[in-house]
Amino acid sequence: MSPTPEDDLISARANRDLSVFDVTSIDDLSFADIHLIFDIARRFRHYQTYKFPFNKGCSMVNAFFENSTRTLASFDLSAKNLSMDTSNVGSSSSVKKGESYLDTAMTMDAYNLKVIVVRCQEAGVPEFLARHVKASIINAGDGWHEHPTQALLDALTILDHTHSQDLNGKIVTIIGDILHSRVFGSLVRILKKLNATIRVAAPETFLPAHVENFGVTCFHSVEQALDGAHIVYALRVQEERGAAGFIPTLREYSKMFGISKARLNLADKNALLMHPGPVRRDIDVHSALVALDPQSAILTQVENGMAVRKSLLWLLSQRQDPRTKQGVQRR
Ligand code: CP
Repeated sequence: MSPTPEDDLISARANRDLSVFDVTSIDDLSFADIHLIFDIARRFRHYQTYKFPFNKGCSMVNAFFENSTRTLASFDLSAKNLSMDTSNVGSSSSVKKGESYLDTAMTMDAYNLKVIVVRCQEAGVPEFLARHVKASIINAGDGWHEHPTQALLDALTILDHTHSQDLNGKIVTIIGDILHSRVFGSLVRILKKLNATIRVAAPETFLPAHVENFGVTCFHSVEQALDGAHIVYALRVQEERGAAGFIPTLREYSKMFGISKARLNLADKNALLMHPGPVRRDIDVHSALVALDPQSAILTQVENGMAVRKSLLWLLSQRQDPRTKQGVQRR
């Protein structure tokens, strides 16, 4: 008799727990944590829309103070697939009336939630809130700082493509608005943990000061940066963070750094094209490549986002070890 989906997931988990109660930065996660999240995500991906009972009786709030399509929808759908109750606060919340993020989070915590997912414009808010609430905080993007679940879904996509446990000997070329990118902030951290060789290519004004301290090699020629790369990762020009003021025109940027088929052909012949979304067609990536090109992994990234978020929500909400979050300072 074949195992039920529930049995299969329980077997894949093998009584393991994450070493953390909150996920606010990739720095928080060990190599073992990352592979635990991936082992379970791969099994959840196999069952896609199957409704698991694992988190029945648990609640989660999406506190999105900044716009989102992919991250908000996938956290909400993932929680529902695990039988969680969910609520959304954010752009319509009482923060607009002057309530602080801390008071908002403590109000949510009084509902005895398992998880609060936070997206906001300011770096460091999720890490700060994690010290004051009993619920697990997941950072869904804080300012220009980090977006750890994006990096997890990206790394899962890359490891599945390379059929490996780490990225030793693999070249990942990241192109675009690195300065304003929280996606870069988490991606570079996870790629370092997985031993990848990391190249970045961007106009000088899109490179943060001392970016090489992350262990990356900087290129001003996108063609040189792409030569032989196994992964081509394009970032969005973030006009909402003032990026247009750092380049002469979007048209010139697209001509110099936009990913076309001719540029993609400079990379390894099996290279994957990735982008976190939302894509700005014909600026970051030429339109024809976005969804339909066989090398584009952009929709695979979206699919892996559901699997990774289900994995995290199960692991954070249902611990095998009965310890609870320690050191929470109630104000
Ligand atoms: N990649 C990402 O965070 O997309 P959304 O802004 O749509 O959530």
